Amino acid sequence: MSRLDPNSMSRPYAPACDRNREPILDVLREVLPASGRVLEIGSGTGQHAAYFSACFPNLIWLPSDLPENLPGIRQWIDDAGENCLDPVVVNLLSDDLQLPAADALICINTLHIVAWQGAVNLFAAANECLAPNAPLVLYGPYRYADRALEPSNVEFDEWLKARDSQSGIRSFEQICELASRNGFTLSQDRAMPANNRSLVFKKAP
Ligand SMILES: C[S@@+](CC[C@H](N)C(=O)[O-])C[C@H]1O[C@@H](n2cnc3c(N)ncnc32)[C@H](O)[C@@H]1O
Repeated sequence: MSRLDPNSMSRPYAPACDRNREPILDVLREVLPASGRVLEIGSGTGQHAAYFSACFPNLIWLPSDLPENLPGIRQWIDDAGENCLDPVVVNLLSDDLQLPAADALICINTLHIVAWQGAVNLFAAANECLAPNAPLVLYGPYRYADRALEPSNVEFDEWLKARDSQSGIRSFEQICELASRNGFTLSQDRAMPANNRSLVFKKAP
């Protein structure tokens, strides 16, 4: 959850972004293409967009979020290079969601916030907007049918649902089913710090 940046009191700041950006970067270095445009869904504060765009100067980074978050994202990417574009509005719950064309898509800690329909819409729209073989990277906590949810994630899931009954930690199997229905195959399911996962899907050739 975001608060204000202690180094610049006017911009939003999520401490988790400082903690998870290096482990996520390791995954991105393996799976992102050498060039092209990365669409980030649910950019939040904009910290990841500012950081990752600086790490990948040969990629164009396009942040997105709900309209109310765009001013905060702009404050973070003011200092970023020219390869970070002005953020665009993407509401995963829009009817007939259309996404800008991209060569990769990344969505961090967002699918457990938005209602399940947002995940349904995301995969359908990603199938339309992504180039063949493009990676779609999800980061966050997931529940698995063959094992108990970790105690920290049980607590987190309860907290999410108390805040919004439509939120909640998503099922890995249901996400994979959604991906497969839309022409994506799972290429990586990687354990990440703090009981999170990186799920990397690949669009069909
Ligand atoms: C927990 S934050 C994660 C933000 C950022 N990716 C990060 O890791 O810090 C969840 C994000 O989902 C966004 N979000 C919520 N509902 C959404 C929707 N319907 N469409 C797109 N984004 C949404 C929120 O605005 C917020 O930025």
